[in-house]
Amino acid sequence: MIAGAAAGRWGPSVGIGRDEFNVEPTGRPFGHFDAVRKVFARSGHEPLVAIENISFDLHSGKLVSLLGPSGCGKTTFLRIAAGLIAATSGIVQINGIDVSEPQPDFGVVFQQPNLMPWRSVLKNVLFPVEIRREGGEEAVARAIELLSLVGLSGFERVYPAELSGGMQQRVALCRALVHQPKLLLMDEPFGALDELTRMEMQDLLLNIRAKTKATVMLVTHSISEAIYLSDTVAVFSKRPATLVDCIEVGLPYPRKPETRYTPAFTAFEHRAGCALGITR
Ligand SMILES: Nc1ncnc2c1ncn2[C@@H]1O[C@H](COP(=O)(O)OP(=O)(O)O)[C@@H](O)[C@H]1O
Ligand SMILES: [Mg+2]
Repeated sequence: MIAGAAAGRWGPSVGIGRDEFNVEPTGRPFGHFDAVRKVFARSGHEPLVAIENISFDLHSGKLVSLLGPSGCGKTTFLRIAAGLIAATSGIVQINGIDVSEPQPDFGVVFQQPNLMPWRSVLKNVLFPVEIRREGGEEAVARAIELLSLVGLSGFERVYPAELSGGMQQRVALCRALVHQPKLLLMDEPFGALDELTRMEMQDLLLNIRAKTKATVMLVTHSISEAIYLSDTVAVFSKRPATLVDCIEVGLPYPRKPETRYTPAFTAFEHRAGCALGITR
């Protein structure tokens, strides 16, 4: 199913998420992207078209992956959704707002944890609530609970330099969730981790998502990661990124490591590979 240019416009669009979730309590999908295009102006060079005419809907509580080859425009799309950069044209609406600047109720996780080395683990996690002046006992309790959910109880007073890369990324995940964001945006969050840690982190993300009911948009170039995690996989073409397939991964949650070895899983991987043009 391709949610192309004709999709969107609040009507019966071809959306991301299963049909029964197509309508939110407000009657509108949580996130709505219509004909999004991004052109980067470059001095001394032709303008670079990164994103071409991408339309889809994002439904509340769903995990959507943006899957595509390196350099196709995934980070650009995520940055547009996060309000960090503006689309050249098209509609970007999330939670009823035209997103054109960073939103306080979003959480973002990048490939690198980017922790502040001079702050303890707990203080790093609390940073987003501190800058919103929402600190206080409730926030501290939430931070401690999140750290426990990611298996970091007892590390609250430790400094980032004493943690492995995987542990640091778990802290970054807690930091992105501490203010209870409406949308969690993740850009190749496990890309810098070794394979085993990466698979552990995937399970951790699914557990946290089940507990927090967060809506998640995650960028990856790993087919298996996209299928394992997602309700829906939006497959992007080579640059300029267009939406070439929208895969509803019907595998039930909770997903288990053995899910990866089922014929259904392989069939979804194959479909994604075909959309990317790397298998037939
Ligand atoms: N600020 C920018 N100015 C010019 N070109 C950019 C800028 N940001 C990204 N690009 C280009 O846009 C294309 C898509 O980049 P990106 O979204 O980072 O790809 P991906 O995340 O899929 O690897 C690349 O060719 C990249 O060089
Ligand atoms: Mg990227």
